[in-house]
Amino acid sequence: MPTTIALHNQKGGVGKTTASVCLGAALAESGDQVVLIDLDPQADASRWLQVAHSYVVPISSVLSGQADINSAIEPTGVDNLRILPASDRLRDLGEPVIQFEDALNALESDWAIVDCPPSWSPRIPYSQIGVRAADYTVVPVTPSSMDLDGLERTRENVESYTSDDRWWVLYSKVDRRVSYTDTVEQRLRRSLPNRLCPVEIRTNIKLAEAPDHGPITEYATSSRGADDFRNLTSWIQETMQ
Ligand SMILES: Nc1ncnc2c1ncn2[C@@H]1O[C@H](COP(=O)(O)OP(=O)(O)OP(=O)(O)O)[C@@H](O)[C@H]1O
Ligand SMILES: [Mg+2]
Repeated sequence: MPTTIALHNQKGGVGKTTASVCLGAALAESGDQVVLIDLDPQADASRWLQVAHSYVVPISSVLSGQADINSAIEPTGVDNLRILPASDRLRDLGEPVIQFEDALNALESDWAIVDCPPSWSPRIPYSQIGVRAADYTVVPVTPSSMDLDGLERTRENVESYTSDDRWWVLYSKVDRRVSYTDTVEQRLRRSLPNRLCPVEIRTNIKLAEAPDHGPITEYATSSRGADDFRNLTSWIQETMQ
């Protein structure tokens, strides 16, 4: 049974998919078996790993209880990293008939990393499915007041499924040359004491380019982005296993 981490924030563009793919690849690089689960109908993680349309068994069949999760996992070309790709049918699945945590229990892997969509709505319930099934939730937040505004709602949503010591804020797209970065961090530390990951993900052009080339650990193996995700991996392996 894997340890499952959901990447969730109902705000868009904060780095959920970047963290899912690059954390997954860095865990895999360390020798652990990883399955990335793309619960976002946008299919960004699947596209990044070039498996957007190459699945045989769609994820919708797993969520509706018609297929075993292990039969729907695809290779990615990266050692130790496999994926349950998103499919177009996620858009009109409606309410799944299984508890996703039951499917995850049958998954043969050390880790499952779940990329959630930027929403928390009954119409597209995939964030709720992912967060409820996960052992831990990581919420990427960028140095922006708009991110802070939505964070309280995201916190309420996450804590409706996760005990308060099992979710973390990952400060992402961080540029320390901008003074506002420190201001937002201080606000985060005040409003959410002890919930900030000790590792942050700096702004890095190689991370922005990586979706066209592959996971950062393979595309730009000596970049700051790769270093940050390797450091995040070490902390997660110590904290969440
Ligand atoms: N640390 C970083 N440095 C530079 N660019 C980044 C970084 N993290 C993410 N980005 C870029 O920011 C954009 C949004 O990132 P990403 O797709 O990971 O966010 P998301 O939260 O998954 O978005 P969505 O809500 O649409 O699913 C992308 O263009 C990505 O390449
Ligand atoms: Mg995304």
